[in-house]
Amino acid sequence: MTWNAADLFAQHERERFAVHSRHLNEQMVRVLKTIGYDVFFCRGEGQYLYDRQGDRYLDLLSGFGVFAIGRNHPALREALKSVLDSQLPNLVHMDVSTLAGILAGRLLKHVPYLDKVVFLNSGSEAVEAAIKFARAATGRPGIVYCEHAFHGLSYGALSLNGSDRFRSGFEPLLPGCIRVPFNDLVGLERALHSQTVAAFVVEPIQGKGVNLPANDYLKSAADLCRRHGTLFIADEVQTGLGRTGRFLAVEHWGVEPDMVLLAKTLSGGHVPVAAILARKKIFDKVFDRMERAVVHGSTFGANDLAMAAGIATLDVLTSERLIEKAAEFGERLLHGLAAMIPHYEFLRDVRGKGLMIGIEFGAPRSVKLKAAWHALEASSEGLFCQLITMPLFKEHKILSQVAGHASHTINLLPALVISDSDCDLVINAFDTVIRSSERVPGAIWSLGKTFVGHAVRATA
Ligand SMILES: Cc1ncc(COP(=O)(O)O)c(C=O)c1O
Repeated sequence: MTWNAADLFAQHERERFAVHSRHLNEQMVRVLKTIGYDVFFCRGEGQYLYDRQGDRYLDLLSGFGVFAIGRNHPALREALKSVLDSQLPNLVHMDVSTLAGILAGRLLKHVPYLDKVVFLNSGSEAVEAAIKFARAATGRPGIVYCEHAFHGLSYGALSLNGSDRFRSGFEPLLPGCIRVPFNDLVGLERALHSQTVAAFVVEPIQGKGVNLPANDYLKSAADLCRRHGTLFIADEVQTGLGRTGRFLAVEHWGVEPDMVLLAKTLSGGHVPVAAILARKKIFDKVFDRMERAVVHGSTFGANDLAMAAGIATLDVLTSERLIEKAAEFGERLLHGLAAMIPHYEFLRDVRGKGLMIGIEFGAPRSVKLKAAWHALEASSEGLFCQLITMPLFKEHKILSQVAGHASHTINLLPALVISDSDCDLVINAFDTVIRSSERVPGAIWSLGKTFVGHAVRATA
């Protein structure tokens, strides 16, 4: 009997929330229903999602950044179909993969100062491996990471997580991990001084909050690392592969890390894949003799579907000039949104690089607005941002996300294939919604009251 995903989806999609509540993450279903995101998406194409009514939504999340080339890109689908149609000798393990060799070569062409690649299945897995490699290469135990960092949620990655909300309940974590403030070279030097630190792991732009490095931070941090015999590892799982308008975000600051971690975009959104790019001298320490040929790896690491997804994604990034477009459209959005700052009291900052943009809100100056802000904050920290994303979704059909728990920043992480008219939509929609947030009392504040009421009842 043949099996068809589209038919199965059509038969069961109406039960998705009930089934998830029963068998999967019930709390996630409650969240989606509470914020009105339970619209039953039925199709994805490019930068858009379509709900059951056929309404189109501009997706500013792009699956947490995985759909940089857009959802269901025809070139990616063809590449994956060609693998399935070709009966390649996938995952032999007592052979080496031809497609992995091609993808590794193409990645290293973009990062010519690195020599070697390992393919894994997820960003977190890349972080885990990077910790192991750094310890093996240096013979040191310590790993330094930053406040507000996010590197994934498996144990090693969680040990480098700069938010106690994620860590809490899961301790004890990996020993030897030292937290330093982001953008603080003095703190970093203090941490490195012991000469026991294997690596400094850092996101060039922090995803949680879209925190940008000071101009000299990454370069000076890399210099400090070199001076103290510590490896500099750039976690480019989110920023890499064009997102910020360069192939790697570190290129904005002229930095050459010892290891670069990639995932998300490389998958084309369809087949999980991650890559560690590293200097040969690190590899030579990890895989230092024949008995250690399999000392690190993962069963599915270089599977043909993932490798084909990576190759097709790199092709699309180049042929459609998506890295250049990310820079162009990013500038356009940044300027359009930043131009609103003088007009709206709640709007504090608009920052980012390429199509990784953070829109930060904060306490207003005028007495009336300040009172409303503080009352809302007292009931639920960071709720204001949610009150902006909800009308963006419902009234303007824009899917966006608050940058983290209790955060005052909304993250924009669209597909790199967005258009001029998408940028206009985003700028006009934010303008309308932020303007209406400054009407107190008004629709947004009533929504806030209802929301707080729901939350109180849910936790009662
Ligand atoms: C910078 C960074 N590193 C690592 C990860 C973990 O990736 P994954 O969710 O694929 O494990 C993420 C995920 O959001 C990330 O943003």
